[in-house]
Amino acid sequence: MRIGPYLLKNNLLVAPMAGVTDRPFRQLCKKLGAGMAVSEMVASNSLLWGSEKTRRRANHEGETEPKSVQIAGADPAIMADAARFNVDNGAQIIDINMGCPAKKICNVMAGSALLKDEPLVTRILEAVVAAVDVPVTLKIRTGWDRAHRNGIEIARRAEDIGVQLLAVHGRTRADAYLGEAEYDTIAAIKAAVKIPVVANGDIDSPEKARQVLDHTGADGVMIGRAAQGRPWIFREIAHYLATGERLAEPGFDEIRAILLGHLHNLYEFYGGHLGVRVARKHIAWYTKGKGLVGGGAFRHAVNRVETPAGQTAMIDEFFAAQTGCPREIAA
Ligand SMILES: Cc1cc2nc3c(=O)[nH]c(=O)nc-3n(C[C@H](O)[C@H](O)[C@H](O)COP(=O)(O)O)c2cc1C
Repeated sequence: MRIGPYLLKNNLLVAPMAGVTDRPFRQLCKKLGAGMAVSEMVASNSLLWGSEKTRRRANHEGETEPKSVQIAGADPAIMADAARFNVDNGAQIIDINMGCPAKKICNVMAGSALLKDEPLVTRILEAVVAAVDVPVTLKIRTGWDRAHRNGIEIARRAEDIGVQLLAVHGRTRADAYLGEAEYDTIAAIKAAVKIPVVANGDIDSPEKARQVLDHTGADGVMIGRAAQGRPWIFREIAHYLATGERLAEPGFDEIRAILLGHLHNLYEFYGGHLGVRVARKHIAWYTKGKGLVGGGAFRHAVNRVETPAGQTAMIDEFFAAQTGCPREIAA
């Protein structure tokens, strides 16, 4: 799949997830098979540009190209400024978020709330595309609510304005994360435009990825929650799409090594104190399911550890105590 001058190694994208897809996680997903990772949203409000959190979010040092940065907001001029600012700071692709239903974003009429106001969508897209020389991509939901699935109209406008890729989450804004993603609207959007369309929503296995690609005709898939604690899902999907066969799940030793490498990068990126705290949710995701024994008690205990050395030592012990096989291999 191509986005402007960037030819991606495959058509598997990591979904932007605020608080999750920081540089260490994006880089890990790319290493384990993702073709691209969209970074967390950087607020378009210039007052926030100097904050430590925003600086960290915009930090792409050493990251595999292309570096895509997502912006969100409802004011065309501020969005154009945000796009320029991020390009000046290394973004090679600007992604516009019209897909996120979070209250704090929608209350100021950004994220998926924008889908309701097509003229404003047009002005934002025009302003951002005109502001930067790099490709602009767009992430949307299928519409405002089930009675207003205007994703096709938005997609056509976006294509006319010069947006170069569209990611579509198969839910409406009103659906939030309820129910199941539907892929018929994504198929209709794909049929309506010539730019690449990436399908998103509830893709959690290689088989599901194949099914969604076949059903929608989409050019690629974007995976979010299923990659939490399971960043190797990208190589599993890539292998399945290429061969029709399932790759074996990683064994405990490999999961342990991947998790420890991930934590090492978190400590380096955030510093030890914050790194230990950021790491907790990832540790919880990695140690759920997959035939791991004693995960509940372990998570309770590891959440009270305050140092990188303490955290990694506990993880070593936890994995050393695992004697069986991951469920999928044993089955
Ligand atoms: C914790 C979390 C944070 C998210 N943050 C963003 C965001 O900042 N921008 C965005 O466009 N979508 C955001 N999303 C939506 C995801 O990118 C994706 O569209 C959604 O999770 C559906 O895909 P999935 O079923 O593969 O998780 C977020 C989702 C989650 C779970």
